[in-house]
Amino acid sequence: MKLSPSILAGDLADMRTCLHEVEEAGSDYVHFDVMDGHFVPNLTYGVPLIKQARKYSKLPFDVHLMVTNPAFYVPQLADLGVEWLSFHIEAAQFAPRLIGLIREHGMRPVVTLNPQTPLTAIEHVLPLVGGVLMMSVDPGFAGQQFIEPVYAKIENLTDYREEHGLVFNIEVDGGVTEGNLSELANIGVDIVVAGKAFFAAEDKSGFAAKVHAL
Ligand code: DX5
Ligand code: ZN
Repeated sequence: MKLSPSILAGDLADMRTCLHEVEEAGSDYVHFDVMDGHFVPNLTYGVPLIKQARKYSKLPFDVHLMVTNPAFYVPQLADLGVEWLSFHIEAAQFAPRLIGLIREHGMRPVVTLNPQTPLTAIEHVLPLVGGVLMMSVDPGFAGQQFIEPVYAKIENLTDYREEHGLVFNIEVDGGVTEGNLSELANIGVDIVVAGKAFFAAEDKSGFAAKVHAL
């Protein structure tokens, strides 16, 4: 699997060091959680911070928009080395059009769904996206517990992908720990986001190596 550490769980007042730690550990991406205080009950940071971060990291960025108006952010995020741009299906009034807009701006669209949202809500866009971001916690905060029934949902998604011959990545976000990495790999997950588990790890390279070995 690939690893995308979420800097939300790091020392945000010292983001330069956080970015350095993510890269030094051998991570594949940096995960940025953009929260607007409306779509989720928390407020983090936006495009200006991501722009600054670009100076201190060579890694591709994985930006997770937890905002009520994702289309507004798309043009602003172009040309910042964002590979994956995730939007929530719960916030997308016209998801296929939004996916087109993300592609026009040179990024790979990722449709995201909350634990309570059924897979049927994203079926119509699965042939159009580069990835699916499965939330395994209610979004808003780092350091929460993995919601167990999401495993079955991920398995259903991997089955669907195989049955329909689709090629999107499956990324899991929330409550990922060393203890559930192998289970996630077994059910077909391609990328894991890790906030607390990564930044609390004494041996960050060791954590990344474990993800890569699976
Ligand atoms: C939650 C965010 C996650 C979070 C992950 O709303 O989308 O990316 O930072 O943190 P952990 O891995 O600690 O659950
Ligand atoms: Zn996230």
